[in-house]
Amino acid sequence: MAVERDTRLAQKVYQQYLTFFDKAERERRWHPIHDIPWEKINRELPEALVLNAETFCCVESYLPDYVAGGINVVRKSFGQAWFSANWGYEESKHSIALMEYLMRSGRRSPEHMFDLQAQLMEKEWRLPFTTARQMTVYGCFQEQATFVIYCRQEAAASQAGDEALRTIFRLNARDEIAHARFYEDVIKLLLEEDREATVLDIAWVAKHFEMPGVGIVPDYESRVQVMRDVGHIDRDLFLQKVYFPVLKYLGVTREELVAAAGQLRKMASASANGAPVNPATV
Ligand SMILES: [Fe+2]
Ligand SMILES: [Fe+2]
Repeated sequence: MAVERDTRLAQKVYQQYLTFFDKAERERRWHPIHDIPWEKINRELPEALVLNAETFCCVESYLPDYVAGGINVVRKSFGQAWFSANWGYEESKHSIALMEYLMRSGRRSPEHMFDLQAQLMEKEWRLPFTTARQMTVYGCFQEQATFVIYCRQEAAASQAGDEALRTIFRLNARDEIAHARFYEDVIKLLLEEDREATVLDIAWVAKHFEMPGVGIVPDYESRVQVMRDVGHIDRDLFLQKVYFPVLKYLGVTREELVAAAGQLRKMASASANGAPVNPATV
């Protein structure tokens, strides 16, 4: 029975991927060298915005870890695994565009950028969750959050008169929201299969959500200080611009989430030391 159910779900996820892929090929392909108006770089752009571009370039640069961890956790789901491959290609352009911006603007030397890349790879990003369903929920929140941040950076770059950087953030943001949508559509399918367990995972992941750069990008805390007024996601902003819009799209009510949070608390108090219990482990 379980195999039959898994096969049915796999077919639906594959259809979702085909829809995503078709739309991406027809409407969303862009070229990080040819589609950016490099001649419109504002060479006087405030350093804070340059530093933010560098920080996002850093976060995007853990691609080897995202791809390796992300694709393996979903390898049994054809549609999601193929999505991961396509996702990796799209994400690879985000860091290339930002890196090219930093070097072409003359604000960072190639030596600096390659030293930074080497420094980044000394640390490794590890999967924050270990099941396909929890990683799908995580991916959804992370993509939506990155979309919100990039839209804000786009507005800041536009206001500062840098058409090149504005275009990069616009194209990146358009990809990120498409990624968020794919994850959301998969979560809808997961909700159809097992609503209670999926809502429990949503509650668990939301409670333990952190952006991927935390703890691995050098000087992350001081970078966040610079970012704070131009696009950092704090808890309030996460709730308003990420969490609640995602729940609305999914058709999951706050009452359901409150009930799930209550269940997580119950599981914690029933555990030997009262520590939180990941629902994926029971
Ligand atoms: Fe990205
Ligand atoms: Fe993305």
